[in-house]
Amino acid sequence: MSLYLVTGGAGFIGSHLAEALVGRGERVRVVDSLVTGHRRNLAHLQGVDFIEGDLADIDIARRAVDGVDVVLHQAAIPSVPRSIQDPLTSHRANVDASLNVLMAARDAGVKRLVYAGSSSAYGNTPTLPKVETMPAAPLSPYALQKFVAEQYCQLFTRLYGLETVAIRYFNVFGPRQDPSSPYSGVISLFIRALHEGHQPTIYGDGEQTRDFTYVTNVVDGVLRACAAPTANGEVINVATGGRISLNHLFRSVRDLMGATVEPLHAAPRPGDVCDSQADIRKATELLGYQPTVSFEAGLAKTIEWYRAAQPVVA
Ligand code: UD1
Repeated sequence: MSLYLVTGGAGFIGSHLAEALVGRGERVRVVDSLVTGHRRNLAHLQGVDFIEGDLADIDIARRAVDGVDVVLHQAAIPSVPRSIQDPLTSHRANVDASLNVLMAARDAGVKRLVYAGSSSAYGNTPTLPKVETMPAAPLSPYALQKFVAEQYCQLFTRLYGLETVAIRYFNVFGPRQDPSSPYSGVISLFIRALHEGHQPTIYGDGEQTRDFTYVTNVVDGVLRACAAPTANGEVINVATGGRISLNHLFRSVRDLMGATVEPLHAAPRPGDVCDSQADIRKATELLGYQPTVSFEAGLAKTIEWYRAAQPVVA
């Protein structure tokens, strides 16, 4: 049995990875600072070894990777607007901590590190869908930081022979995504607002598009990347491959929830990308990946989860 370290494992995506690994009978360790993650996200899992700590501290990184076979590096401050407000804090979490994890993984003889990259690296490059060979064009500190850490992964593969794979995520959503901050992912914010009878806000004209990806698909892509021999040193998109506008998203959530409110409109957010859609052919070729849960099915499951988790107080 291998030992897997999930950094950021008390967060949204990290906790789904931990859950899938426990389900497969693997040994799992989680390290999380609990800045954006929550212990409750792991409460249903048995036998997970938990370290609370900040990976920007190299000693925490070394303790976390000790004896580990595979690292799934998910820890980050995952927000475009938050990185614009406070670039230093997000740089520390997204770049400094990633370098520490890579150094510690290299020194501990980790077999492979799979990194949570981001579609934001593509910026507003005019061509759709986004292919991994396109040059990066970051529009925010967050996008740049995610890209820098991805480059560090590739350098560590070339310079030190540490196996790494960077998976570029595209607007992941699903159960346990936390709607409690203004920086939260848009789907969680829309569901919570409608659940509580408030009007969600759409930034800009709502015609911007995203490749919204249900979390189960991402978990599948990442777990495949842990083992796929030809994925070493690569950057790979994992997404649904579609494109949904914010206006369409709003109507879908409203219909599924049986709500009637209209959205509020506000100015476009600085650093916002216009359109995002993944080319997923590389993931299919190298990982045998295909999305198994559609946007619509994922949205229905997510709404069901929020309703069960946060019943309306009468
Ligand atoms: C970006 C990245 C994504 C990354 C995420 C981390 C791109 C294409 N995607 O997502 O890879 O994981 O940051 O946070 O860069 N919006 C509203 N109303 C709201 C909230 C958001 O209209 O209340 C809009 C935003 O302006 C944006 C879209 O919804 O156009 C999605 O926003 P969000 O969920 O925050 O993610 P991105 O910024 O696209």
